[in-house]
Amino acid sequence: MCGIVGYSGRNRAAPILIDSLKRLEYRGYDSAGIAVFNSNSIKVYKDKGKIANLENGLPEIAGTVGIGHTRWATHGKPNKINAHPHTSGSIAVVHNGIIENYQELRERLTQSGYVFSSETDTEALAHLINSYYRDDLAEAVVSALKDIRGSFAIAVLCGSELVAARKDSPLVIGIGSGENFIASDIPAILKYTRQIIFLDDLEVASVTPDSVSVFDFERHQIEKKITSIDWDLEAAEKSGYDHFMLKEIHEQPRALHETFAGRISELEGSITLDGLNLTPVQIRDISRISLIACGTSFNAGLLGKYLFEHLSGIHVDVEIASEFRYAHPFPGSLVIAISQSGETADTLAALREVKGSGCRTLAITNVMGSTLTREVDGVIYTRSGPEIGVAATKTFISQLGVLYLLALHFGKSRGMLSSDHIKRMLISLKHIPAQITRINSNKELIKKLAQTLSASNDVFFIGRTFNYPIALEGALKLKEISYIHAEGYAAGELKHGPLALITKNTPVIAIATKGATYDKMVNNIKEVKAREAPVIAIADEKDMEIERYVDAVVRIPATEEILSPILSTVAIQLLSYYTAKERDCPIDQPRNLAKSVTVE
Ligand code: G6P
Repeated sequence: MCGIVGYSGRNRAAPILIDSLKRLEYRGYDSAGIAVFNSNSIKVYKDKGKIANLENGLPEIAGTVGIGHTRWATHGKPNKINAHPHTSGSIAVVHNGIIENYQELRERLTQSGYVFSSETDTEALAHLINSYYRDDLAEAVVSALKDIRGSFAIAVLCGSELVAARKDSPLVIGIGSGENFIASDIPAILKYTRQIIFLDDLEVASVTPDSVSVFDFERHQIEKKITSIDWDLEAAEKSGYDHFMLKEIHEQPRALHETFAGRISELEGSITLDGLNLTPVQIRDISRISLIACGTSFNAGLLGKYLFEHLSGIHVDVEIASEFRYAHPFPGSLVIAISQSGETADTLAALREVKGSGCRTLAITNVMGSTLTREVDGVIYTRSGPEIGVAATKTFISQLGVLYLLALHFGKSRGMLSSDHIKRMLISLKHIPAQITRINSNKELIKKLAQTLSASNDVFFIGRTFNYPIALEGALKLKEISYIHAEGYAAGELKHGPLALITKNTPVIAIATKGATYDKMVNNIKEVKAREAPVIAIADEKDMEIERYVDAVVRIPATEEILSPILSTVAIQLLSYYTAKERDCPIDQPRNLAKSVTVE
């Protein structure tokens, strides 16, 4: 998510840290900072905004060991105080990831006399390490990490000692000559070294100018392989993937994991959504929900309608933001604006229409501190990390993740769902990230199908109920990045018009996962097959029946019917991506489109 760098060597650390941080600028960030051990103490410099601001304010610092960070806010506003490094006594820490039990730790540490100055979860980690520190930094770091739940990649500085560790968040060590490096992403240090050690989960590294020792939490040494990286800078920025979009599709398991982090207790069947700002009584009193959004976020909203109506019994209207401003919000409604950027002009304008109507407002967004977050009564962050590809992928998956949590939470608060039902759903939800990884690692067939699709002029996506919004999202993804005309349809609606367009030259992608509408989907597939259309089904891996009716089957892991849209999304994203790649399109920056549209 954010960027981490570290240096231990014989050159001045500050310019190297600043230069390495600049190599991560392409990912986006809201603040930056460094800590350098200099003249027997650690000096911290940080600032909001661009790295250049930070650099301009820096004095000449002679120290040769230090850490640095570019922050992309997840806990606490994007400002100077919340910027990393965070310090406690003689310890400075930079951190990527989310510490799920940080509130608990914060209370415990406050009672022991530690004073918090920021709103971040990272500061709790700094104090925790300090509380364990008795002249052995690695030991203190390990003890602290044993106390935390969540994900982390950290670099910790104490005197001239530098220690790094990771769990569920990337971190590498760069090996130089008389100097060694730490980085969350290889591009940061590629200028200095191509010899890389990839840290694995629950590994700790102690880094000096002449040595790197890696060990586990029991202090057993681990022999690590040094990999020589032959990527150029551009390939390194994409972690070796051909496009940011593909990289981001592969980041979806982690994005969803972060979306759920600290919010789900499947044992208790409970969901905690900080920032919702709605009491159980207020949730019970919601008469209607209006979901407003644009583009891909609108498609997430369409699935939200099915989820809220099915799981919490609340009537939902889904409105395209640019049209909602001409509608009249129903008094007593909860208006939920969904926007990955939090800056979409149409969504903001629609939301402003609601002001004064007596409706409560809630935002689902990925960007902390964005305009949207400042204009609503409550905010739930999707925590997908920065997304660079213009076509939204991981932010969409995380939006769906939040909508599931909200709908389940509302269902529970309104007495619609039994505790067993919620527990079952939460257990299945927790399996989804690993199931997405399985789809990602099994894409040979998708690549082959994309070759055929790439020669088409028109493609149809069809789905029913929970997968109807995913049919729309499939068509949107394909047209955005491959420039092929594509339409998404509710499968039952085909016969009311578009069937006239179906020929042997119009491939149909049918999302036909098992569930209440499966038989009806099979009938719709037969309708298009009768018009000779080639059909690709997206179906459960155990469904052997579907093969009889279609030309090819993209298989996805089986899950609860209502959760299947998350998995079918990954299939349609990969199909669209590889089709666009076959056509040699500029996938990350499609013509005429922008990542954040700030005009109405
Ligand atoms: C643009 C982007 C889309 C995005 C839409 C809404 O059109 O290209 O990918 O879905 O804006 O953006 P938002 O930031 O509000 O989700």
